[in-house]
Amino acid sequence: MHDQRLKDVITSAVKHLHAFVKETGPTHAEWITALEFLTRTGQTCNKWRQEWILLSDVLGVSMLVDAINNRKPSGATETTVLGPFHVSGAPRYPNGANICLEGKGEPLLVSGRVIDAAGNPLVGAQLDVWQANDEGFYDVQQKGVQPDHNLRGVFTTDRDGRYWFRTIKPRFYPIPNDGPVGQLLERLGRHPYRPAHIHFIVTAAGFQAVTTHIFAQDSEYLESDPVFGVKESLIADITKINDQHKADELGFPNPYYAVNWDFVLTRG
Ligand code: BEZ
Ligand code: FE
Repeated sequence: MHDQRLKDVITSAVKHLHAFVKETGPTHAEWITALEFLTRTGQTCNKWRQEWILLSDVLGVSMLVDAINNRKPSGATETTVLGPFHVSGAPRYPNGANICLEGKGEPLLVSGRVIDAAGNPLVGAQLDVWQANDEGFYDVQQKGVQPDHNLRGVFTTDRDGRYWFRTIKPRFYPIPNDGPVGQLLERLGRHPYRPAHIHFIVTAAGFQAVTTHIFAQDSEYLESDPVFGVKESLIADITKINDQHKADELGFPNPYYAVNWDFVLTRG
């Protein structure tokens, strides 16, 4: 079956690839090295590891595709990179649940609303949340070390469009750098550290889904994210709360951290 779109895309890819080869003039040995790198990239993929997505991320292609497909009106929550660690089918929790199942890290309360562009609450919106643990690893990177579904969960907004959950303050962490993409970054003199963040996919019926992060304002590496995911509008104030009564209510030690963050969705 003839596929014109595929033909157009491949024609363009070949045109740019030939221009790239003419411009850089690789030797045979260099070209074989490039092909071996791509071979290792594929061989590094498995059920829990996606080295191709990582390569697309560090080359800035994932964010470019995201920008092309998610032009948002001003005021709407901006999107950023999905990354390779989202897992579908995370546990559904009631608001207030603690997604940190291993008890390590600085306690953090995340709360806010999901609203439309006019500020109306979106009832029954879903927030799929995931983050790395206090040592900088996602549960799927440490099968058998972390509890399954550690620091993941799906929450639903209440009748005021509100959500809230307990977790830990995110920390900066390295993207997987023990494979070919990590070796490439090292050879290029680039560091692998993503600034501290929490991932969200926010969905509501009749609205465009938003794949995004909250970045911690006090994190290192906000200016040099290896996957180019930081946007000014996604940097949140994570504040220290000194309130024994509230801490007791939450089952947190005092002081603890809190962040209030609203997600603004657009129709579509
Ligand atoms: C992440 O934030 O989980 C991530 C994003 C891109 C590449 C690697 C990790
Ligand atoms: Fe992440």
